[in-house]
Amino acid sequence: MSSPADLAGRRLVLGLSGGIACYKAAEFARALVKAGATVQVVMTDAAREFITPVTMQALTGQPVWTSQWDTRAPAAMSHIDLSRQADAIVVAPASADFLAQLAQGRAGELLSLLCLARPRERCALLLAPAMNREMWSHPATQRNAAQVVADGALLLGPGHGAQACGETGDGRMLEPEELLADIVAAFQPKVLAGRRVLVTAGPTFEALDPVRGLTNRSSGKMGFAIARAAAEAGAQVQLVAGPVHLATPRGVARTDVMSARQMHEAVQAALAEGVRTDVFVATAAVADWRPAEVATQKIKKDGSGRVPAFEMTENPDILAAVARHDAARRPYCVGFAAESHDVVAHARAKRLRKGVPLIVANDGPATFGQDDNALVLVDEAGETPLPRADKLSLARTLVAEIARRLAPA
Ligand code: C5P
Repeated sequence: MSSPADLAGRRLVLGLSGGIACYKAAEFARALVKAGATVQVVMTDAAREFITPVTMQALTGQPVWTSQWDTRAPAAMSHIDLSRQADAIVVAPASADFLAQLAQGRAGELLSLLCLARPRERCALLLAPAMNREMWSHPATQRNAAQVVADGALLLGPGHGAQACGETGDGRMLEPEELLADIVAAFQPKVLAGRRVLVTAGPTFEALDPVRGLTNRSSGKMGFAIARAAAEAGAQVQLVAGPVHLATPRGVARTDVMSARQMHEAVQAALAEGVRTDVFVATAAVADWRPAEVATQKIKKDGSGRVPAFEMTENPDILAAVARHDAARRPYCVGFAAESHDVVAHARAKRLRKGVPLIVANDGPATFGQDDNALVLVDEAGETPLPRADKLSLARTLVAEIARRLAPA
């Protein structure tokens, strides 16, 4: 779920060094432009053996730079001009040779030259390695990768899988949409760095028999957006998801469950892991009740006109149970209140009943399945409305609001 304005106003240098993954750089450039970025492509000589500047120019709408001797730049200092105008330099693909050049601070081509000349405090350097698995795992490359990270660069990937050379292993360049998500994340403030966050999302499904059950219209979109926003903010995120059809946000660990009781168990298991969880966000629309008995065989219509009657029993309240943990183990708990009327009044009452510091109120029927939402944060101090926006933007604001309320780590 990327909003079109994710990179609006960002000025990026997209650098291509030599490698077969250059074929993905075309699609990646397109994705960056679609996300709102201004993209200035710089290519090494080796990159031009794989893809032409014409292709990259057509996709970005900007003339491509290939040489430090290009006289188009004022005072012929393209390495200075390009690096001063950029918010980030993204090298994708970053070849083994290019990493080696960077690790040594070499500046023999325009691209390595402008990486060296960039103002490090305000122009991030993001590198997407792409090479054969043996080249990636070679001690020299590992040494170079560690060195460029120590010098302030961020590595995006590499990924694992089938390689163009026919081998399988680590070293693939990440896919364009993965790179895009990582770049969007790189621009987010790291307000949850070093924190652990647990999120529940989606509906639960309470079985009646092997084929039928009770569920609700929650899509999971808000909870997944919160998991993504927390990961972007630097947190280690565990997501417990009911039955939904959504892709796992990058960098998020996911456990899939069906019923409220399974969700409860997964949450308790996550909290029982040795490390303390700092924040629990209960976004899931958990079924309040479940059928007391689950039929082992499909319940059949017998033609008599009699309808089956189901006895119901109450599900565990996951959020309230977590809020009852002793202070040493209790994360900062955030509940959601999806109401159809008197949203804020219900949220205030729910905050007290569940014993949680923060409740996020929203209009349930109006938001289920939608891509946007409007929230009201209800805490001890009062109400803070977050006006209607796409769910990812709201999730980022909510994450910032939660971070502000946390005790110092
Ligand atoms: O109890 P109610 O559904 O009104 O409260 C909603 C909040 O409580 C949400 O944050 C939801 O995720 C959480 N909840 C829960 N376990 C339940 C019911 C709700 O964690 N059984």
